[in-house]
Amino acid sequence: MIKLINRRDFLVNSAILAAASSLPNNVLAQETMHTRMIPGTTESIPVVGMGAPDIFVNLPKEGNALPISVIQTMLDLGGRMIDTPAFFRPNDPVLGQIINEMNILQDLFLVGKITTSGKQEGIDHLERTVKNLKKKPMDLLLVHNMRDMKNNWSTLQQWKEEGRTRYIGVSLTRQHDYTELEAFMKAEKPDFLMTGYSITQPQPEARILPLAQDIGTAVVGVEPFKAFDDGAFFKMVAGKEIPAWAADFGINSWAQYSLKWILSNPALTSVVTETSKVKHVIDNMKAGYGDLPDAATRKKMSDHLLAMA
Ligand SMILES: NC(=O)c1ccc[n+]([C@@H]2O[C@H](COP(=O)([O-])OP(=O)(O)OC[C@H]3O[C@@H](n4cnc5c(N)ncnc54)[C@H](OP(=O)(O)O)[C@@H]3O)[C@@H](O)[C@H]2O)c1
Repeated sequence: MIKLINRRDFLVNSAILAAASSLPNNVLAQETMHTRMIPGTTESIPVVGMGAPDIFVNLPKEGNALPISVIQTMLDLGGRMIDTPAFFRPNDPVLGQIINEMNILQDLFLVGKITTSGKQEGIDHLERTVKNLKKKPMDLLLVHNMRDMKNNWSTLQQWKEEGRTRYIGVSLTRQHDYTELEAFMKAEKPDFLMTGYSITQPQPEARILPLAQDIGTAVVGVEPFKAFDDGAFFKMVAGKEIPAWAADFGINSWAQYSLKWILSNPALTSVVTETSKVKHVIDNMKAGYGDLPDAATRKKMSDHLLAMA
């Protein structure tokens, strides 16, 4: 039997949670999360958001308490962006129902994606996404991994013209060749790019991130904890001490080490992380507070981490 909780019950749980966790510490009590401008607009967004853990797709057997806690913790710590589940497997993700029950649609910056090929299939996918999330207009719609751009990009352009989404763009991760993306960005100047970027996946630094800055494209970093090809960042650093010099930049965990390195590139507008643990949401959101490493420290961080690989 699934146990559902309502928002009032959640707030009680949330207060208990906050008291039981390390929050609020002095920094969090006095500051708010950093925000960055979406280029060419007067709108800013908080620098750390969330991706789509499995608990946003299928309800855990214990009910909706955990996904609600994860989302509310992000909001409490100043995060707003959710990169919503990209696929229907085969049912609609539970996220739509949860954020509507929490009545927080206007507090969130929601990202949706077309993950299919074919003109009508792409439109159907968007319609189903919006029906699930119920946010009108959507904040940001992307073509996932630049799939069937011939059909899908014109659909997004039309949706933006019709006011059904505020921003449009593409996502692309795990690439060794950015030629097609670079040509697309130069031709279309998308509002947003979502791309894999981290110390172990720095390739976008060479041309794509400088280009994004030149043409005024906002960049959302993803896969902050993927190490090389196997997704093993935390295995790589397991049992290793964080260097003492990193603490000068408010880095108190390996997650913050990765996230602060990513955010210290000014081309990044925000970064999203995937987790189904409240303590990891707290850890990750804290990366959006305090100082960021300077260029010399950034290099030192990269050298230090890569020496462990
Ligand atoms: N093409 C695209 O559009 C595309 C491609 C890839 C990703 N994305 C987006 O980017 C999001 C994030 O990327 P990702 O899927 O590669 O996930 P990620 O955030 O790089 O890594 C997730 C893993 O890290 C763990 N984790 C998270 N925070 C942690 C912390 N503070 N301490 C220890 N472990 C932690 C999680 O486990 P726990 O659950 O145990 O915390 C999970 O195993 C995705 O959800 C998706 O929205 C988009």
